[in-house]
Amino acid sequence: MSYLVISTSLNPNSKSYLLAREAEKQLTGGGREVDFLDLRKLRLPLCDGSTVYSRPAVAKVRKRIQWATSILVGVPIYNYDCGSAAKNLVELTGDAWKEKTVGFLCAAGGRSSYMSIMGLANSLMLDFRCLIVPRFVYADDSSFAEGVISDAAVTGRIAQLVASTVKLDGANFDTLLNAHH
Ligand SMILES: Cc1cc2nc3c(=O)[nH]c(=O)nc-3n(C[C@H](O)[C@H](O)[C@H](O)COP(=O)(O)O)c2cc1C
Repeated sequence: MSYLVISTSLNPNSKSYLLAREAEKQLTGGGREVDFLDLRKLRLPLCDGSTVYSRPAVAKVRKRIQWATSILVGVPIYNYDCGSAAKNLVELTGDAWKEKTVGFLCAAGGRSSYMSIMGLANSLMLDFRCLIVPRFVYADDSSFAEGVISDAAVTGRIAQLVASTVKLDGANFDTLLNAHH
């Protein structure tokens, strides 16, 4: 299995980045092959649905997504949705996401936006038949202090997400259907 962790926040002091790095640490600790993508370093163009697809930076990131069987995405919650950089990444790379196992690690200001990742999850599920791990991490401001995750419960939930993702073993809709027929 090949794992990709993507940090999609562009904030230099991102908290979802800390969640994503913790997930990466737990995955590599188990001796797994993990790629880490930090959107702050990539300067991807905004999707125009046309000319951007041939840009080298877009082609590169597309390949890294294609390589992975399981993807964990660190997401900042903005306006009761994923931050636009995460949505833009999916718009740019589209069917590179086909049939991946996908999990989410969300950082939010408060507790009320708990379900706000569902728009992105639905799109990945219905457009690209991704298998969404139904055990996402959601951490609000109170879970962080001085640039680290300060809440052990959050680290524990990351461990659960990682364990579930590993157990799924890169499963997708087709492999699950075939396994049962
Ligand atoms: C434009 C904007 C919109 C936001 N909207 C929400 C929101 O709807 N719900 C929420 O709980 N927090 C919201 N927040 C707070 C962020 O989710 C919070 O700052 C979080 O740490 C962002 O993740 P990051 O630190 O990885 O960038 C918003 C922040 C910004 C800048």
